[in-house]
Amino acid sequence: MPQSIEIAPDCLWWPELLDRPAQEALVEEVRGLLREAPLFAPAMPRTGKPLSVKMSNCGPLGWVADVSGYRYQPFHPDTRAPWPPIPRSLLDLWDQLTRHPAPPEACLINWYAPDARMGLHQDRDETDLSAPVLSLSLGDTALFRIGGENRSGSTHSVRLTSGDAVLLAGRSRLAFHGVDRILPGTSTLLGAPGRINLTLRRVTPPDATL
Ligand code: SIN
Ligand code: FE2
Repeated sequence: MPQSIEIAPDCLWWPELLDRPAQEALVEEVRGLLREAPLFAPAMPRTGKPLSVKMSNCGPLGWVADVSGYRYQPFHPDTRAPWPPIPRSLLDLWDQLTRHPAPPEACLINWYAPDARMGLHQDRDETDLSAPVLSLSLGDTALFRIGGENRSGSTHSVRLTSGDAVLLAGRSRLAFHGVDRILPGTSTLLGAPGRINLTLRRVTPPDATL
């Protein structure tokens, strides 16, 4: 198991877990996924205000956000096509880093343009909250903020660089987290400023049928 740093209770960070060739291979996989399931523009429930991040998914389920709420669904909100499968390399990383007995069902693909950010939030739309969330970063560095289970609690920041992995598990599974901003031009991986973040999630309890 590669060396990790605990940045909050049970929240593990593997700086530069993926070397450059592995990052390049993963970017190619993501580009292929986005040809099948193009980025969509998520919106805040009720207000319909667009989020600054653009999204897509792969896996049996995908996370979507629109005026009617946040949810997981098996198809793309614009094309209505099923999400493409999660690439083998990501399933293997999940097994290696989480040791969770059931595979992930959703991989959210977040695209951060240079001015995009993500407000402090909890990942709590999953029915099975015993499974961790695994995050992978590609491209420009992000100022990632993590706190505890209370929105008003103290937080601290780490700089997530290309190839980093973060696991939100155990006591940090419901930790508030977000991205204050990205630092455009800090990576050459994508050939243009911006950042891709992938989060692998288990949504349903292992014995539930989809
Ligand atoms: C997320 O919380 O969905 C994304 C976190 C990140 O972009 O690092
Ligand atoms: Fe999140």
